[in-house]
Amino acid sequence: MNILVTGSNGQLGSEIKDVAASYKSFCFFFMDLPALDICNSSELDIFIAKNKIDTVINCAAYTAVDAAEENAVIAEQVNGAGVLNLVHALAKVKGN
Ligand SMILES: NC(=O)c1ccc[n+]([C@@H]2O[C@H](COP(=O)([O-])OP(=O)(O)OC[C@H]3O[C@@H](n4cnc5c(N)ncnc54)[C@H](OP(=O)(O)O)[C@@H]3O)[C@@H](O)[C@H]2O)c1
Repeated sequence: MNILVTGSNGQLGSEIKDVAASYKSFCFFFMDLPALDICNSSELDIFIAKNKIDTVINCAAYTAVDAAEENAVIAEQVNGAGVLNLVHALAKVKGN
């Protein structure tokens, strides 16, 4: 099974990197900005199809809670639209 971990340099992604070695039957793809931006739907579609991704563990997020009030647009793009991009990209490769 191929697993994409987005936002993999963050706190949660880094923890998953640490435990991934214990799960040898899974093939992990650890990706973060700038190499893979979940707000870029065409980039995501290509990456997920090319690497035959089965599952995504989404650790990409806009996590500056206080700043999100001032930067509501970017917070929504990452935490809302970005997640939807992931769902659509996976659905395309799975034929849904
Ligand atoms: N940490 C916890 O204990 C914990 C517990 C439960 C749930 N969570 C949830 O897990 C998620 C991640 O939390 P975290 O603590 O790991 O946050 P974090 O340390 O802030 O990591 C988030 C990562 O996402 C990256 N990122 C931001 N925008 C992106 C984009 N458009 N495309 C791809 N990557 C992007 C960030 O890169 P930059 O740094 O370059 O912006 C960063 O590497 C959040 O939804 C959080 O609510 C965390």
